[in-house]
Amino acid sequence: MTGALDTPLLAVRDVRKSFGEHVVLDGLSLDVHAHRVVVLIGASGSGKSTLLRCVDLLEDVDDGVIELEGRDITDPRLDADAVRARMGMVFQSYNLFPHLRVLDNVTLAPRLVHRTARRQAQDEAMAVLERVGLADKARAFPDELSGGQQQRVAIARALVGRPAVLLLDEVTSALDPELVGEVLDLLGELKDTGLTMLLATHEMAFARDVADEVCFLHAGRVHERGPAAQVLGDPLEARTREFVRRFTA
Ligand SMILES: Nc1ncnc2c1ncn2[C@@H]1O[C@H](COP(=O)(O)OP(=O)(O)OP(=O)(O)O)[C@@H](O)[C@H]1O
Ligand SMILES: [Mg+2]
Repeated sequence: MTGALDTPLLAVRDVRKSFGEHVVLDGLSLDVHAHRVVVLIGASGSGKSTLLRCVDLLEDVDDGVIELEGRDITDPRLDADAVRARMGMVFQSYNLFPHLRVLDNVTLAPRLVHRTARRQAQDEAMAVLERVGLADKARAFPDELSGGQQQRVAIARALVGRPAVLLLDEVTSALDPELVGEVLDLLGELKDTGLTMLLATHEMAFARDVADEVCFLHAGRVHERGPAAQVLGDPLEARTREFVRRFTA
């Protein structure tokens, strides 16, 4: 298929990013189509977080183009806050403000950055808290919640502006094992609603369950990509096989 319908929601083209002499992304290209879940896997240091941070404009790329909804978002003339509002980012450490109640954590960006009226921001925040199953915790402070609940609040906060794409970086790795499931279940539910996601994880079982496509990062590029069952179950490349074997042993 060609034409507009085939245009990816997010397109990373030949992106280069170095820290000093250290080349982390070496001409990396990647497409994410609407309503797809693309999972990044790869060894520690392979650049998964760097890629997500470049997409979210938390890092400047050295070269290459990142297009969101057909627009080059690396163009310095664009308003980075407006671009970022089309994306939701969730980190390993939930980064909630400890002195703010759950509801205020979720309404903060809409009110500060987008100047949404208090009442409207609260209504929207309650709707997303409902969606992540935490409407009853709206008045709680973060330290009154479990790690899994805090991470679900962070996901609610990322959803509040109705982003075109959700970026998630190892969102379960700081959690106690018994809390991982509730966050993974939530991401599965969000996938079922058609939300587009690009996420990095070390959870191979989750990647297999949720991913439409898996990308194995190696040497600064996408070394192998394909359906989860293929990349994780029967990889074509020796490097991918070695990595997957280590994680599923
Ligand atoms: N701000 C920075 N300054 C210098 N080097 C950095 C910076 N951020 C990342 N790096 C380096 O870039 C490389 C890629 O890091 P990145 O965090 O993207 O890897 P990763 O694939 O997310 O790893 P992990 O699986 O451990 O999370 C690493 O070698 C890291 O040390
Ligand atoms: Mg990382």
